Amino acid sequence: MDRLIIRGQKRLKGEVTVSGAKNAAVGVLPAALLLSDCCTIENVPDILDISILKRIMESLGAKFENIDANTIKIDTRNANSYMATTEDMHKLRGSYYLMGALLGRFKKAVATFPGGCNFGVRPIDQHIKGFESLGAKVEIEHGHIKLTAHKLVGASIYLDVVSVGATINIMLAAVRAEGLTTIENAAKEPHIVDIANFLNACGADIKGAGTDIIRIRGVRELKGNVVHSIIPDQIEAGTFMIAAAATRGDVLVKNVIPKHMESLTAKLIEMNVKVEEFDDSIHINAKDKLSKVNIKTLPYPGFPTDLQPPAAVLLLRAEGISTITEGIFDNRFQYIEELRRMGAKIRVEGRMAVIEGGSKLSGAPIKAVDLRAGAACVIAGLIAEGETEIYNVDYIDRGYEKMVEKFRLLGAEIRRIIDSKED
Ligand code: EPU
Repeated sequence: MDRLIIRGQKRLKGEVTVSGAKNAAVGVLPAALLLSDCCTIENVPDILDISILKRIMESLGAKFENIDANTIKIDTRNANSYMATTEDMHKLRGSYYLMGALLGRFKKAVATFPGGCNFGVRPIDQHIKGFESLGAKVEIEHGHIKLTAHKLVGASIYLDVVSVGATINIMLAAVRAEGLTTIENAAKEPHIVDIANFLNACGADIKGAGTDIIRIRGVRELKGNVVHSIIPDQIEAGTFMIAAAATRGDVLVKNVIPKHMESLTAKLIEMNVKVEEFDDSIHINAKDKLSKVNIKTLPYPGFPTDLQPPAAVLLLRAEGISTITEGIFDNRFQYIEELRRMGAKIRVEGRMAVIEGGSKLSGAPIKAVDLRAGAACVIAGLIAEGETEIYNVDYIDRGYEKMVEKFRLLGAEIRRIIDSKED
């Protein structure tokens, strides 16, 4: 099994370019099923989740042509299956968007329950409530979710919890429903706006994406031949910003929308990191001592839960005791056990991690327990004394394009061991 070897305590220095957003791309690709036509998507991250999603969509009859490493042409004219039931469905969370897209296109869908990182219970009741409100009958049979509708009719849907997945899934189905759908208490993440922009470019009528009320007026059909570029990955950008700060580095993070980074930027400034924003890049300079801060993760525009594990590593470098409160998921502190193997002084009290800064980390064999936990392990390895060995690298590959190469370009001593070969 692949692993990463990191020799730590090198200050990161230089420039890094952020890839397209995973969580936008995993929505835009299924959205292409609503067109029954061709479209071209640029800035698609070359990551494992996208390869798996393409494979699932191919099993439905969609065709993909790689124009270059990050540009794909999608042809969904002959996509004629509504059965998203291959075992790949378990391998990523974003596979749940096939439910909304297939329901919108065929008025029926059969989908296997999605997989994704394990943060405790991750229900999809709000997705189901949304589909039912639009007129679908929902049955659970043999581990599959079966959706059927004579027709989809717009409805007013209030989400009981702010859910990114439910907001996007309902939007996908509602685009092809009759009449007006209103999603209230909608999530506001940048990737929701990106997916809505793609659909609107194809002729959909979605207003209010990025606010907590989204109005979707259904259309009979969507047109193809649209070229859409995926927004930069807010979480990858944040991972590099945090890594730069944690290594006391001096890094220009390029291909960023600074507005999307505001909650992190504010915390870094509070910690005494110099952050300079440009049109599409952010410069991080962390020469000074870092101060403790308290962080609470919240839906956008709050501090993203996906940056919680990397932020915990950064706080190990701050003076004094900091806290992180997880406001989204029940159980997203499993990686802390791994950090403790490196000497991290962190205790978990319910949904709060109490982080004692200032103590040294020492390299150790550790494992990535999920995607962003994997990013946290890498940053821990970058600041630790000696060698850190990270197992379960597949998790990192799910969401970070060329992470090893990017850190190497910033001066990190990091390498990947593949079946006893090195890359
Ligand atoms: N929730 C419900 N019922 C639902 C849906 C969600 O109770 O029907 C709860 C969840 O249990 C959670 C909260 O609502 O407590 C928010 O969950 P949300 O639906 O927003 O999360 P998600 O759609 O499962 C997406 C991202 C995650 C990211 C979260 C929060 C994708 C594919 N996944 O998950 O990304 O952490 O939003 O921002 O977009 C990652 O990229 O590493 C990742 C985990």
